[in-house]
Amino acid sequence: MYNIAIDGPAGAGKSTIAKIVAKELGFIYVDTGAMYRTIALACFRAGIKADESEKVIAKLDDIEVTLGYDNGTQKVYLNGEDVSLEIRREEIGNMTSAIAVYEKVRENMVEMQRELAAKNDVVMDGRDIGTAVLPNADLKIYLTASSRTRAERRCKELVEKGVNCDIDTVEKDIIDRDYRDMHREISPLTQAEDAVLVDSSNMSIDEVVKEIIKLKNER
Ligand code: DC
Repeated sequence: MYNIAIDGPAGAGKSTIAKIVAKELGFIYVDTGAMYRTIALACFRAGIKADESEKVIAKLDDIEVTLGYDNGTQKVYLNGEDVSLEIRREEIGNMTSAIAVYEKVRENMVEMQRELAAKNDVVMDGRDIGTAVLPNADLKIYLTASSRTRAERRCKELVEKGVNCDIDTVEKDIIDRDYRDMHREISPLTQAEDAVLVDSSNMSIDEVVKEIIKLKNER
């Protein structure tokens, strides 16, 4: 199986890029953030706060996260319910970063991710794919962009959805989330030694996709 790992901070464009690369190569796209988001959503709905570690961990026993594909688009299910849209809410994203620090939460997710990669050609995106989940991935990309660029992209998306956006608040949330993801004890976000750094601050989506496909073809 051919495995491509794409890691990087929030809003660098990982999922947009990974989806297109997967489609062009005929691979499966695995959005690991969506899996962590589903756990956060289940806790949120149960009224559990992210810092209530024991309750979060106990809740794992009631949660079954499954992935499905609809016309090549990944869908994520919480105990059979399609929550693909609901997990995208801003408050769920922030909560996800806070519950993703727990070892028990990560163990479950990593096992599922490795199984998927063992059985399929995948483009998998996340924070720890090249460093922890798939250390032997055939190609590793560390995709980043400046926090301002990422905040601008996020605001543009929100405005398009008709949601008001304060760029400074969005940038602050992004910086806080990066800090937490990069400084947690287990599998922090970091560039794997053998990952290729791609800074998308001044690149179009198309340019990043072409760069990744070129890197794949060179190997
Ligand atoms: O990529 P995303 O924004 O959907 O991820 C949401 C949060 O999930 C992110 O802030 C950190 C966590 N996450 C993680 O810890 N490990 C992954 N492989 C993917 C996401």
